[in-house]
Amino acid sequence: MELISNCTADALSKAAKALKDGHLVAFPTETVYGLGADATNENAVSQVYAVKGRPTDHPLIVHISSINQISKWATDIPDYAIKLARDFWPGPMTLILKRSDLAKDFITGGQENIGLRVPNQPLALALLAEFESLGGQGVAAPSANRFGAVSPTTSLAVSEELENYLGSNDLILDGGSCHIGIESTIINCTEIVPSILRPGAITNEMIEKSIGDKINLNTPDRDIKASGLLDKHYSPKARVRLNMLAEPGEGFIALASISTPVGAIRLTSPRNNKEFARVLYEALRDGDRFNLSEIKIILPKNGDLVEAINDRVMKSSFNEDHH
Ligand code: TXA
Ligand code: MG
Repeated sequence: MELISNCTADALSKAAKALKDGHLVAFPTETVYGLGADATNENAVSQVYAVKGRPTDHPLIVHISSINQISKWATDIPDYAIKLARDFWPGPMTLILKRSDLAKDFITGGQENIGLRVPNQPLALALLAEFESLGGQGVAAPSANRFGAVSPTTSLAVSEELENYLGSNDLILDGGSCHIGIESTIINCTEIVPSILRPGAITNEMIEKSIGDKINLNTPDRDIKASGLLDKHYSPKARVRLNMLAEPGEGFIALASISTPVGAIRLTSPRNNKEFARVLYEALRDGDRFNLSEIKIILPKNGDLVEAINDRVMKSSFNEDHH
């Protein structure tokens, strides 16, 4: 594995060629780092599952360079999905659509649907464009962490997670810290009315405004296999507990307006919700780097991104014995 910290044009063509040759390339997006593979190469995709330790019936999102690539991978695209793609791509939104013949079972986990996203990050877009110029069709990329663990938002976090699993020809591209910090909003576009499978920076209100209609707020169809829909996910090694003050020696995450309990180890003090989302995963990772056994998080009660932040933090704190 090689970490490339100076992503020149030469480095990007090397990375695109590595993908084309069936190797893995971890790359930054505006949400979290992805672990990329040629989405048409079964062997490369199986490496992604092996490196993550992820069950093979959990589908991967295919990343494309622009809306123009959408009809390669999807068919029967509803008008509202086109509106969403025009309004929010490139951006932190994944559309679940009926798959085309290009989307094989090894990408979709055997489902008839495909997840597509155009990320809004200059290095990611340049890599995707370069890959397509070599004849590539799309890059399958889950978050670049081991299954169930916290998603990485820095290249250091990617290498901490995966260095023991990546092969000698695999690459990690460094593009600094991810701007948004939590994963894309996933929208199911396979029905007459769209529904949200995973909340993110593109909110219900933004979606309803874009499509000029209401979305379906019912709980998503559990037949759709999405690991983001599991109760427990995004978990550090430390036990996470919510809306309680930290005891001495425990980790503490809360907005800056909340003061640090005596003796607690303050992991971050974001000034607002956007910053909370951006720093959350690194703060959880720091808790593990400091070998803390317990992290207490005070959730923001309202405002930007509150649904997405709560979703991730609840799952990171889910504990089997709470059943
Ligand atoms: O922001 C993101 O979406 C990041 C960056 C790298 O793009 N990617 C990401 O991928 O979060 P991953 O695999 O860690 O989470 C994607 C979620 C999983 O829960 C997966 O099961 C679900 O999306 N998913 C992917 N394709 C799907 C499909 N065809 N139908 C239903 N769910 C799907
Ligand atoms: Mg993930």
